[in-house]
Amino acid sequence: MRVGEWVLVRFSRDPAHCVRDGDHEWSVGTALSLLRRVYPNFLDLIRGKSVLDFGCGFGYQSVALALSGARYVLGIDLSDDKIGKAKALAEKLGVAERVEFGRDVPRERLGTFDAVISQNSMEHFPSPDDELRKMRSAVSRNGAILVTFGPPWFAPYGSHMQFFTNLPWVNLLFSEDTVMRVRARYRSDGATRYEEVEGGLNRMSLAKFERLVRSCHTRIVYRKYEAVKRMDWLTKVPVARELLTNHASFILSLA
Ligand SMILES: C[S@@+](CC[C@H](N)C(=O)[O-])C[C@H]1O[C@@H](n2cnc3c(N)ncnc32)[C@H](O)[C@@H]1O
Repeated sequence: MRVGEWVLVRFSRDPAHCVRDGDHEWSVGTALSLLRRVYPNFLDLIRGKSVLDFGCGFGYQSVALALSGARYVLGIDLSDDKIGKAKALAEKLGVAERVEFGRDVPRERLGTFDAVISQNSMEHFPSPDDELRKMRSAVSRNGAILVTFGPPWFAPYGSHMQFFTNLPWVNLLFSEDTVMRVRARYRSDGATRYEEVEGGLNRMSLAKFERLVRSCHTRIVYRKYEAVKRMDWLTKVPVARELLTNHASFILSLA
């Protein structure tokens, strides 16, 4: 075993006690908590509006949006399994006539959404520029694209490896090869690069996202960077903002 690997193993959990995928508890009651925290007057942004939930997962957020006053919600996701479960949830909670799910936005609905929401997905998309362009094509001329994600790549836990180590910045302190070798003790997907881990990781930093916004002809009209230990003033300091911002939220409009 190489020195770096030996050190990281020493700072890692016993594989028998690491957090498993799917341990997260989903509920309609809490599905909007993050959006309500990071966007002031979030409910005003969706009440009576048509909303696209981009990367909707199991549909809890889409259903919660409808129950909180959205006129119409379309949840899209690449996973057929998730779409199936999301449809069942909407049926069960009696909102299926206002909440639909599918793999993509139907052509006739392009350019019609008042709001497009992307929660905790932007750091995972293999081609984030393609996805932001899709969001752009779905939103109406005066609509808003709400993107909230974290932790960004250079944040203490930006490598999303906290399930096996509490050591911060492992992606900066250790080579990718070392991190992947230690990760292989906990996950069996055979990933040798961050891009290959389950769910994907595209190394989305704040600067990378800001460049993406410009290249996709969108404009930031609202931004909220949340720093470690609530020291949000750090997010205004060059370099520190990348290293210490835990969560980033934006409202984009068409440029
Ligand atoms: C990390 S999960 C986030 C789910 C949910 N938005 C949340 O906040 O819990 C990312 C989701 O995006 C979906 N996804 C990935 N690429 C996508 C794409 N190109 N279009 C639609 N959904 C996508 C994945 O299947 C997954 O369910």
